[in-house]
Order: sequence, then structure tokens, then C-alpha cells
Amino acid sequence: MITAANFKVNHTRESTASYLEALNLFLDAYSTHCDVRVYPAASSFLKADLYPHVKLGAQNFYPAVNGAYTGEIGSQQLNEFGIKNVLIGHSERRVTLRETQDFIAKKYAFAKENGWEIIYCIGEPKDVRRNGFEAVAQYLLDEFEDIDTDYDKLSIAYEPIWAIGTGVSAEIKDIAEVLDMLKSRFKSTPLLYGGSVNTENLRQIISLKSCGGALIGNAALDAANFCKLIQIAQNVQKEE
Ligand code: 13P
Repeated sequence: MITAANFKVNHTRESTASYLEALNLFLDAYSTHCDVRVYPAASSFLKADLYPHVKLGAQNFYPAVNGAYTGEIGSQQLNEFGIKNVLIGHSERRVTLRETQDFIAKKYAFAKENGWEIIYCIGEPKDVRRNGFEAVAQYLLDEFEDIDTDYDKLSIAYEPIWAIGTGVSAEIKDIAEVLDMLKSRFKSTPLLYGGSVNTENLRQIISLKSCGGALIGNAALDAANFCKLIQIAQNVQKEE
């Protein structure tokens, strides 16, 4: 079960350090093995080995070791912190930052070459959702263009755009339908859901048979709340 916190543009370096310390302590005392990932802002990166129970990740990177890419960071910068986990394809980068599928595929290939764990994000806008499941499925599958889904360090996060940061999660039957469709295609790849996940709705979402975790924004910004979310996720028993 993967529980991941995407900080987006939140927390300072100082508050990220206190957060990670609290989280690592909590996980140290927790008896179950958990795959817990935290994606802080790049200015708050800390050495990954300071927090052995947490996988520190990057929300973004440029697909190059280093070079003339003003404002970006490459693998040289990530390596300095021992960061080996990345998010790719988040809708905020696809839509607000205008990343094209072609560029996203380049980032993906670069991450794969480096052997990084990837959470690859996909999600449809509201107007596509209004057209029903077939339209959603087609939209989501198009977001896999030039993506090697056989990569063994890949997880996929389904995050409907209209459910992100709105406080309104997708309906459980709609999440189930999409995750089942993805499972039928990408059999061994862990599938996550993201979009207004909180302590009230996580149990039901994670109980879905095709759901292997959650990618959480707002509700994960508080360390104690993220620990609660981890416990909820871990407590759900799945039939193999
Ligand atoms: P929220 O949990 O704030 O809706 O954000 C979800 C998200 O975008 C995680 O990547």
C-alpha cells in the first residue's frame, strides 16, 4: 500500500524538516511495513537518508543531468539529496505549466534511465467526465502515449482534475470503474487514487479491489493527519 503526500507549493524548509522528523518517528514505531512517500517543494529538499522510513521525492525535474535550463533542476541536483522518486504528469503541470505529452514522455524516459520510482499521474477534466466513462477511459489512455508502462518501478495515480483541491472527491463507483479499467491493462502496476482524499473517505477508496494507495495533497500537509491517513490505509486488509 502506497501513501504519498504531495506538498505542492506548501511548507518551508524548516517546516518540512519538522514534518519529516515527526513522520519518520511515527513510522519507526509502527510495526507494519509501509511505502510512504513525501514530495516536498524543491527548495525544501533534505538528504533522503535522514529519514529512512520515508521515500523523499521530487514533484518535478528537467530531463537532463544539468545544463542551461533556467529555473529547473536536473538529476545532479536530485542525486545530491539521494532522491530517487518522482512525480510525472501531474495535471497541475500538464494544465497550468503547459507540459505536453511529448515532454512528459521525455521526463518519463529520463526517470526510467535513472532507475527512479515514478508515480505517473493521469486525470480527466470535468467536461470529459460529463461525457461518461468511455470518454474518460479514452482520455486517460491517451495520456499514456509514449510511456513504457512495463517499467517495474512505476505506479499510476488516477487524479480527476476536478476533484483535486476542491474538497469533492470523485464518486466511489467512478473511481472503481476507472481503477478496474486500468488494472485490466496494467496488471501488476500499483494504482493510486488522488483528489480530495481525507480521513473520512480514504478507507472506502483504499478498500476498492484495484486500489493500491493514495496520493494526497491538502489532507497530508499536517504531519499528524498524514500519519492518521497512513494508519487508515494500512488497516485495510485486501484479499490477494
Ligand atoms: P488534494 O488532496 O489537495 O485534492 O490534491 C491531490 C493531488 O493533486 C495530489 O497530487
